[in-house]
Amino acid sequence: MATIYVLNGPNLNLLGTREPEIYGHATLADVERLCRATAARFDLAVEFRQSNHEGELIDSIHEAARNGAAGIVFNPAGYTHTSIAMHDAIAAGRIPVIEVHISNVFARESFRAHSYVAPVARASLCGFGIDGYALAITGLAAMIGIAAKS
Ligand code: DQA
Repeated sequence: MATIYVLNGPNLNLLGTREPEIYGHATLADVERLCRATAARFDLAVEFRQSNHEGELIDSIHEAARNGAAGIVFNPAGYTHTSIAMHDAIAAGRIPVIEVHISNVFARESFRAHSYVAPVARASLCGFGIDGYALAITGLAAMIGIAAKS
């Protein structure tokens, strides 16, 4: 069974209570359940992680590439807008990365409109709430040629 990594950056452990008018009321545990249910439709195993630390996220990207993961669904959160190191780790990894944001980053402060991750991601999506994770997994499966189970 192929494995995908779902990586979540800083402050996403606070989902559910963090600025619910922007991020909604679902928790990170809800996101994990959604990701596992969606991945199961494609027979994909999920390695689901959240970290508030840039280096830990980079280590997870390296690990996913080293382990031959089928891809990464990645919400880099605040590091999206600051981290050249994250960009470099994805570029080095050579596995497909789908960038996801819960909120519509383009409809918010101007500093959120720039992503260091987008140029090395195979696709990016934002503004769908936590459903964006399910859409990203579905898109990743299509990209790597894995059909849904009948
Ligand atoms: C976010 C958007 C980022 O700008 C922000 O720093 C986050 C969450 C999102 O999912 O909408 O922490 O990635």
